[in-house]
Amino acid sequence: MTFSVRTSQHDAPNPLAEAVRDARTRAAEGGPALLDLTVSNPTSAGIPYATTEILAALADPRGLLYEPEPLGLASARAIVALDWTARGTAIDASRIALTASTSEAYAVLFKVLCDPGDEILVPAPSYPLLGFLAAFESVTLKPYPLVYAGGWHVDLDALKSAIGPRTKAIIVVTPNNPTGSYLGVHELDAMLDLGLPIVSDEVFATYPLRGSGPPCGRVASVATASRGLVFALSGLSKLAGLPQMKLGWIGVSGDASLVAQAMARLELVLDAYLSVATPVQLALPTILATRSATEQAIRARTARNLEALRSAMKGAPTASVLEVEGGWYAIVRVPDVKTDEEWTLELVTRDGVHVQPGYFFDMARGAHLVVSLLTPEATFAEGITRVAARVAEEE
Ligand SMILES: Cc1ncc(COP(=O)(O)O)c(C=O)c1O
Repeated sequence: MTFSVRTSQHDAPNPLAEAVRDARTRAAEGGPALLDLTVSNPTSAGIPYATTEILAALADPRGLLYEPEPLGLASARAIVALDWTARGTAIDASRIALTASTSEAYAVLFKVLCDPGDEILVPAPSYPLLGFLAAFESVTLKPYPLVYAGGWHVDLDALKSAIGPRTKAIIVVTPNNPTGSYLGVHELDAMLDLGLPIVSDEVFATYPLRGSGPPCGRVASVATASRGLVFALSGLSKLAGLPQMKLGWIGVSGDASLVAQAMARLELVLDAYLSVATPVQLALPTILATRSATEQAIRARTARNLEALRSAMKGAPTASVLEVEGGWYAIVRVPDVKTDEEWTLELVTRDGVHVQPGYFFDMARGAHLVVSLLTPEATFAEGITRVAARVAEEE
């Protein structure tokens, strides 16, 4: 009996996961609590929701009728288009395809754009799930570097030299997880010049950390492109803080003929799965219309936690908080007297604080800790105070 090579990247227990598990067991047995600074689930982070309205909308009796539409219900696609347009990116409903999540959107696009063995360029550092999603489609990811010099930018020369005969697309994550950097306008232009489709993960686009939108010179959405072929990904998971609703979407833009071909292929693949549930599509207008309190609470929390992080790290002059423009994460550079794995292990075992090591996100050089700004504020403040104390002690 054999299994596929594609599913052979087992989540082998790593030392950090084991240390976290042991610390949680000790806490359950009455030991000290582990402060979790990796919280990414808004539904268990004390964030407010328009509970009554959302639950009422999910009870729409039309949810008992099965009338599948491969690209999603016309009413739901129209509301996604309206929401995008209201945020400054005009897009027609005919260019929207609904999926069960952004992760599913990636899988669908890999099927539409790639054959087994083809390559896709991905930013490094970036989001670890991409490696799994690509492997499941027998697609190879080739990293292109994001470089930090007081702010993050794409190394466009390295991006160009990573292109080979089997390269089928470029992924961008804007703002990126975990760097928090938006794609630059000139970076998008340079990528469009390369003539490859662009898949842009914009799940954190509505969470700027400086002002009310992307910083000057940064892209709000690639869906504004009128040439090439671009796919902008978003969904309820971050936009409305509701990952359990399982609704994401792809907005397709660029050259009209390429867009038409892409929509036909998306329809073909999505028709085979029909994975988007009807009740959430019917509830979508209410979910989007009532999300403001949720979005504001998340923005306020991430902003306050970032401020607290910067202030706590003043107590550890050899550490620095990297510049961040948006999203839910921040990166702390710590002295590379130890690897980032060693730092995170020590923080769990000696200080009772769980943070992510930079290498999880493909940060190759130096030692970095990644913290979630979504963490409830009291836990965050106590956790980063301990991180700063640990770094200061090593100085
Ligand atoms: C950059 C990025 N994209 C996509 C996702 C997943 O979104 P979804 O729940 O829609 O699959 C995440 C989740 O953390 C993420 O960080």
